[in-house]
Amino acid sequence: MAGRRILGISAYYHDAAAALLVDGRVRAAAQEERFSRRKHDQRFPGRAVRWCLEAAGLTAGDLDAVVFYDKPITKFARMLETYLAVAPGGWFTFPQVLPGWLGEKLNLRRTIRQELPGLRPECPILFAEHHQSHAASAFLPSPFTEAAILTVDGVGEWATTTVGVGRGNRIELLEELRFPHSLGLLYSAFTWYCGFRINSGEYKLMGLAPYGEPRFVDAILGELIDLKPDGSFRLNLEYFRFLRGTTMTNERFHRLFGGPPRKPETPVEPRHMDVARSAQAVTEEILLRLARHAMERTGLRRLCLAGGVALNCVANGRILRESGCEALWVQPAAGDAGGALG
Ligand SMILES: [Fe+2]
Repeated sequence: MAGRRILGISAYYHDAAAALLVDGRVRAAAQEERFSRRKHDQRFPGRAVRWCLEAAGLTAGDLDAVVFYDKPITKFARMLETYLAVAPGGWFTFPQVLPGWLGEKLNLRRTIRQELPGLRPECPILFAEHHQSHAASAFLPSPFTEAAILTVDGVGEWATTTVGVGRGNRIELLEELRFPHSLGLLYSAFTWYCGFRINSGEYKLMGLAPYGEPRFVDAILGELIDLKPDGSFRLNLEYFRFLRGTTMTNERFHRLFGGPPRKPETPVEPRHMDVARSAQAVTEEILLRLARHAMERTGLRRLCLAGGVALNCVANGRILRESGCEALWVQPAAGDAGGALG
């Protein structure tokens, strides 16, 4: 892509961001929250885009392509399909999300042209798959010329986990797990259950874990999740409510873990610490299995990670020490902000 000026954008879910590549090199990248002062700001990253362009001495008219970090129409189709699958359960929240989709998100080409008025008419606006973006953000900036790539998050369009391979400037995704079977959503369910914010407080769950005992590990592995030796899994949806878009977990889940969800800002009890420790232990086990499988599948012992779950640095430490990898590279902006780079 020599000589090309490409702007990457992630937006409209959480952690909106922009990244500017010039001659295949990262010239600038920024997250919108740093300018708007709104944590996890998901709106169009206009200020981050302007900052990136200014840092490179460019204007929107100088861009050769704009690339969005996911395929919004496929994502919308997945949401519609999910609403229909659980109907009428999810219709309660449907009117809340529909206007945003019918407005800026489904007409994203028009939205981007409105937000970047200087863009040349012939400048293409392209859409990458969500996990392709994560995989590219993990492999291409890494020091490796060949590597296995593992991406793990809540959900993009359909994929929630992918195993891929990177060689030179090419990336191929070889396998995927699909929504609703998602390690990111499982971790977020425990985050919510322990009284922390989804897509934000996951690090608190990880931080709470060492204070507890892993006494619920068998309950999680026996009831919530069917985990295979290669790290693939299926969630038992009888314990979750996230398909209906109201809360993450249901009464059955609460009985399994000994009580109702913790209300935010109320005292943390030993039970919550034990739940956190158990969720963390299972997450680490799944990631270790996935990492080993990714290396086996590709025959490569260098590994790149991205996706929001790759922000779990405790699990990453175990992958580094215990997976048998020769070298590990984790995209620092492993969450959706890094999708702008990918
Ligand atoms: Fe993601």
